Amino acid sequence: MRVYVLRWGHRPRDFRVTSHVALTARAFGASGIILSDSEDRTIERTVRRLVETWGGPFSVSMGVPWISFVKSWRSSGGVTVHLTMYGENIETSDVIKRIKNTRKDLLVLVGSRKVPPDFYSEDVSDFNVAVGNQPHSEIAALAVFLDRLFGGSELRRRFRDSTLEVLPTKRGKRVIPLRIAPDDPGTDEDLEVRKKGEI
Ligand SMILES: C[S@@+](CC[C@H](N)C(=O)[O-])C[C@H]1O[C@@H](n2cnc3c(N)ncnc32)[C@H](O)[C@@H]1O
Repeated sequence: MRVYVLRWGHRPRDFRVTSHVALTARAFGASGIILSDSEDRTIERTVRRLVETWGGPFSVSMGVPWISFVKSWRSSGGVTVHLTMYGENIETSDVIKRIKNTRKDLLVLVGSRKVPPDFYSEDVSDFNVAVGNQPHSEIAALAVFLDRLFGGSELRRRFRDSTLEVLPTKRGKRVIPLRIAPDDPGTDEDLEVRKKGEI
């Protein structure tokens, strides 16, 4: 199951929030972000630099109208999940189980300001999911949704073609130079060897 995130309603003044949506999508297991209906080269550059340093794969695309993207996603067999405080509660319903049972690629729709009412309709969203039925943020909603979807396994993931890797430590910062070829995810043994080059 591959997951992409469609961010609707980006405005240049939302730069920090949108870039955090992208960072969160990547770190929590999504394969890419689509910035619909607007273009922002600064966001594109930020995501590309992030992937160059910390690995991927993670794609960024922009400018496509949300409605045509959603239509073609669904017509090619993908499922859409709209994150909204008004949806089925992720904790008190079985919505995550039903989403997983589709075994289809997912497009997760997140808003910024109020989304067009069509987002809630059957023509757009297969599932309307609430991360609690209180208003908060697209970044928080996305993180919790992806974590529930992947059951935490995304937090163990190693990224391909990364130039750096963090070694978890109780205090301070430990970072090692590391590059894993795109077609070679590396083994634990490889990692041990690379750790010897610790800086
Ligand atoms: C700042 S909120 C906008 C809230 C706005 N009042 C609305 O009508 O949805 C921006 C985005 O965060 C996400 N969001 C906020 N609270 C959420 C929640 N409790 N569950 C799921 N998504 C949420 C939705 O994707 C929403 O479009």
